[in-house]
Amino acid sequence: MTAVRVAVLASGGGTNLQALLDALTDSPLARVARVITNRPTAGAVERARRSGVPTTVLRDPDDAAELLAALDERAHDLVVLAGYLRLVPPAVVARFRWRMINIHPALLPAHGGPGMYGRRVHEAVLASGAPLSGATVHYVDEQYDRGQIIAQAQVPVLPGDTAETLAARVLEAEHQLLPRVVLELARRGVPSEPVRIA
Ligand code: GRF
Repeated sequence: MTAVRVAVLASGGGTNLQALLDALTDSPLARVARVITNRPTAGAVERARRSGVPTTVLRDPDDAAELLAALDERAHDLVVLAGYLRLVPPAVVARFRWRMINIHPALLPAHGGPGMYGRRVHEAVLASGAPLSGATVHYVDEQYDRGQIIAQAQVPVLPGDTAETLAARVLEAEHQLLPRVVLELARRGVPSEPVRIA
């Protein structure tokens, strides 16, 4: 079985990308084949270059044709959104149905949706008084953070937590969860039907 070719979309520092790059090094199951960004200065771009992974900077992230060309489904089997902050155009979502996943730093369906990214997510969790938070990997659909859930990892919300301390604890869980899901999807040959991973 040839390794699953993963395209990663990222807008930020890229620590989830780094966790994937580290976990997939020498893996026969999957490899990061391209990094695509809407921000040329994103830290994720430098991480890709350091790992010798080709990068694409989108001129217009809302342009479905440009994104489909960059994602080139002849060259990529699975698309991973790792801190990508733009809504994926519907035509692209349709083309990669059940082959495009996103990681979100909360236990969806709570604390997701438009504008829910970065510290706002953790502030909302703290304001809700929830005893648990965590990370969610889900399929990407036409709305932010609403796609079918694939897997979650829980972390405790501790007394005295700030948005920063909670974000750091959730990010650690993300760096474990995302590679685990990608490797399991690869092991299963990137099924064309939705799966749930325990
Ligand atoms: C992560 O918390 C991820 O869940 C969210 O954006 C953040 C990106 O972090 N979607 P990084 O760029 O991977 O470090």
